[in-house]
Amino acid sequence: MAIIQLPKDLKFGVATAAYQIEGAANEDGRGESIWDTFAKTPGKVVNGDNGDIACDSYHRYKEDVQLIKELGSDMYRFSVSWPRILPNGTGEVNQKGLDYYHRLVDELLEQGIEPVCTLYHWDLPQALQDKGGWDNRETIDAFTNYAEIMFKEFEGKINKWITINEPWCVSFLSNYVGAHAPGNQDLQLAANISHHLLVAHGQTVKRFRDLGIDGEIGYAPNTTWKEPFSNQQKDIDACQREVGYLIDWFFEPVFHGQYPSYLVDWYKQKGVTLKIEDGDMEVIQQRIDFVGINYYNGNVARYKKGSGLFDCEDMDMDYKRTDINWPIYPEGFYKVLTYIHKKYGDTPIYITENGACFNDEVKDNQVNDTGRINYLKTHLAALQQSIDSGVPVKGYFCWSLLDNFEWAEGYTMRFGLVHMNYRTLERTKKESYYWYQQVIRNGWYDL
Ligand code: NOJ
Repeated sequence: MAIIQLPKDLKFGVATAAYQIEGAANEDGRGESIWDTFAKTPGKVVNGDNGDIACDSYHRYKEDVQLIKELGSDMYRFSVSWPRILPNGTGEVNQKGLDYYHRLVDELLEQGIEPVCTLYHWDLPQALQDKGGWDNRETIDAFTNYAEIMFKEFEGKINKWITINEPWCVSFLSNYVGAHAPGNQDLQLAANISHHLLVAHGQTVKRFRDLGIDGEIGYAPNTTWKEPFSNQQKDIDACQREVGYLIDWFFEPVFHGQYPSYLVDWYKQKGVTLKIEDGDMEVIQQRIDFVGINYYNGNVARYKKGSGLFDCEDMDMDYKRTDINWPIYPEGFYKVLTYIHKKYGDTPIYITENGACFNDEVKDNQVNDTGRINYLKTHLAALQQSIDSGVPVKGYFCWSLLDNFEWAEGYTMRFGLVHMNYRTLERTKKESYYWYQQVIRNGWYDL
């Protein structure tokens, strides 16, 4: 047993995203998004699930805010559904969409919870996808204009903005691996999109500054760690490529105004080159107020010719896994945070997501999710260790408040502190909810 004492000024929160929880897909003028299309394409989502109803948070947001309040959470990270605000991605604003987010944000503020708003958590308006989506540079301007509408509408109510959630997923997972909407499998396309996302991020930060909006702005890349199996150079290099694929590719342009040369060279060998237009790198390299980091897993890995995109293979280390089969690797959380701090400096960090999938069940009105509690314990300990090493972490959001629509996995994978009965939409607090409540209240816990 060891006591983990967390910093007094560390802020705590929970996170969700619009398409994963809102439901009300056809209400109040919401347009279609690429996730509506993808989910309704046979074979793309487990069980053919979709977000039409999800957790019905569009109607039950008061109940959800109550759960956040009782948890003692300082902050709530949610995302805005772009097609609720602009059903066609551009053009006419849907007032009813804005009204919904006013109701939500007002409720949060009334309860003393800070709203943290993600502008893009994957639900691109289908109308924009029909014109090429993120491969079309017009989407960059469409995004910035949508962001401007939100900034102006919510200035004074929302103080923290996140441009894009997990740009690696939006580009490579969705357009090279093909596992997420729109489901392409084309490396060149994915690379183009990664660049356009970074330009969209930078241009939006610039717009935020030019408009003189009061508040802070950042983005939220996802991360992983690969620990080299040996100290042979080829293992070290293979792991570096795999880590850089998620981290450096999305950090170096923002912090240093260039793409990491070792990855540019690697892509070149694969026949992929970026189409960078004049001025793009300056636009991308805007000062941000904080960086959001999402971390879930990592592994020990080694060089293996032909394995994946980077000749890198995960080792079978017998780590325990969560129910989504991700190895539980809290050491990687520490490594990721110290790596980013060392390479990219002192920009304040918020852990915008960290959490675990366990497909627990309700018994006698209780959910005994010890696996999730253990995961959170070891990861918060790694977080504390990184803070001790000087990493400027200001806040931590647990993913997620509720079990919800887990993208290609549909409703089969549960990440919530609160259990969802998808038939009755009943919410049941899990043991992990009560555990996290104590951590927030006390600022420490027993490891
Ligand atoms: C990252 C994504 O941002 C979120 O939407 C997802 O549900 C979690 N990871 C868990 O996979």
